[in-house]
Amino acid sequence: MDPADLGDQLQDVLLTEEQLHTRLDEIAVEIDRDYAGKDVLLVGVLKGAVMVMADLARRLHTPVAMDWMAVSSYGSGTKSSGVVRILKDLDTDLSGRHVLIVEDIIDSGLTLSWLLSNLRSRGPASVEIATMLRKPDAAKVQVDVRYVGFDIPNEFVVGYGLDYAERYRNLPFVGTLAPHVYGG
Ligand code: IMP
Ligand code: MG
Repeated sequence: MDPADLGDQLQDVLLTEEQLHTRLDEIAVEIDRDYAGKDVLLVGVLKGAVMVMADLARRLHTPVAMDWMAVSSYGSGTKSSGVVRILKDLDTDLSGRHVLIVEDIIDSGLTLSWLLSNLRSRGPASVEIATMLRKPDAAKVQVDVRYVGFDIPNEFVVGYGLDYAERYRNLPFVGTLAPHVYGG
């Protein structure tokens, strides 16, 4: 899909496909350097992290295992509830593993801070976070993030895995939607 496919639903393109991919190239180099010789497990958070997980994992030279978790903190609206529920747990035992959580976006940070303590309680060798996007002005809790793609303004965004009411995840870029889309 490209911006023209959205017609008047699209307000702005915040990050182009090329910008996202260039940044992932850089992050992959850092991860390869930091995790050389280690047994790495990438943990993707469904569903938003699907795109970044696929694009990041393919750029790594370090062999990694991949597993997925689904947690819920949002309904179909645009505000964080702070309530986190495990919808699908990992299939992997974390003891002794170097875990790298792969996320689409850190907004309030509530989901991630909950997830961090949950995964840390399972005896891993380490747990770090890589996120494609972060909204610093939306932070409600401070979360230590090792790899950040882009810091973005505190606006609701879609694309590159991120949805509004389960739509727009397959946009290869990140953008904002026109107000009338939220109107109903
Ligand atoms: P947090 O707990 O507020 O940090 O955000 C948790 C989840 O909300 C993220 O992993 C996303 O799935 C979703 N989310 C946060 N901000 C946005 C956004 O701007 N667009 C789409 N989804 C978002
Ligand atoms: Mg998410």
